[in-house]
Amino acid sequence: MTRVFSGIKPTGKVHLGNVFGALVRWTEEQHRAESIYCVVDLHALTVPQDPTELRQSTLRLAQILLAVGIDPTVSTLFVQGHVPEHSEGAWLMECTAAFGELRRMTQFKDKSDKSDFVSGGLFTYPALMAADILLYDTDEVPVGDDQRQHVELARDLAERFNSRYGQTFTVPRATFPVAGARVMDLQNPTAKMSKSEDDAPGTILFLDEPRTIEKKIKRAVTDTESEVRFDVATKPGVSNLLSILGAATGRTPEQAADGYTQYGPLKADTAAAVIECLAPMQARYAELAADPGETARILAEGAAKARAQAATTLARARDHIGLLPAL
Ligand code: TYM
Repeated sequence: MTRVFSGIKPTGKVHLGNVFGALVRWTEEQHRAESIYCVVDLHALTVPQDPTELRQSTLRLAQILLAVGIDPTVSTLFVQGHVPEHSEGAWLMECTAAFGELRRMTQFKDKSDKSDFVSGGLFTYPALMAADILLYDTDEVPVGDDQRQHVELARDLAERFNSRYGQTFTVPRATFPVAGARVMDLQNPTAKMSKSEDDAPGTILFLDEPRTIEKKIKRAVTDTESEVRFDVATKPGVSNLLSILGAATGRTPEQAADGYTQYGPLKADTAAAVIECLAPMQARYAELAADPGETARILAEGAAKARAQAATTLARARDHIGLLPAL
């Protein structure tokens, strides 16, 4: 059976890009493939965190994943820091990756350019991500477009390790949605919608109320023409709305464009579709948030399942690379 693995960081607030680029597909994959999903709290540590806030946002994110539709009786849902094999796997990957390869990662370049303090972890982050993926013999990694390069690196590292030390890891591949792989900022449609922009007018948050969603979409930047057409290069704002509408209604952006001649109705329908998509998830989140004990229990069970699998793969890797087994 196909094995699917993916992860999300508990930093900032979950937004529409996360939902359409990744989370909705995670819920679909779980009925087709053996699915493992992870709240990657260790990845959050690449920048300084407030400890209380990090604990809360890790639990809250797990509740959002359940609210979006991850079914813990079908999928494995766990927190990365509960499975110590990820840290050891990351070291094996750091030693497999070339310095130049890590330096070429565009997310590292973007983030390190913007920060005063650049941690060693920010640099080796993609090696930890490769370990996350490879520890589970993963075939497919459902992600948004911004993670493409990181999954490519995981592939390269798996192949390199296998050719140096013998068949050890499954070589994974990234998968992307037909619409929503790159949801852009509504105010600046040439930049991706991102978690760090707290309550920004260009970002629709998972927990935004219908009125807020309507307002943000109504004010979305378009262009001075009035033709509704999917053309990312010349019409980034309109194309972004079409991607969002497509993702919310299960169509391609081109299909979503059908029948529209003006921006007003396109915006109104996009807002309505997003509200309809998020409302049931938001309602489930409110219920789950009231019972953190139940989420903690689900995460403990998930970690036990994940750990059994990760330990088997790590033992194989340790053996193949030549680490002396402890008696
Ligand atoms: P993160 O937490 O930034 O994002 C989680 C998922 O949301 C997708 N995404 C988007 N999709 C479309 N449009 C956007 N504007 C947008 N913004 C974010 C991301 O592509 C991702 O799929 N490094 C990863 C987390 C990670 C991981 C892993 C993922 C750690 N280990 C192993 C897969 C497998 C990250 O920071 O995602």
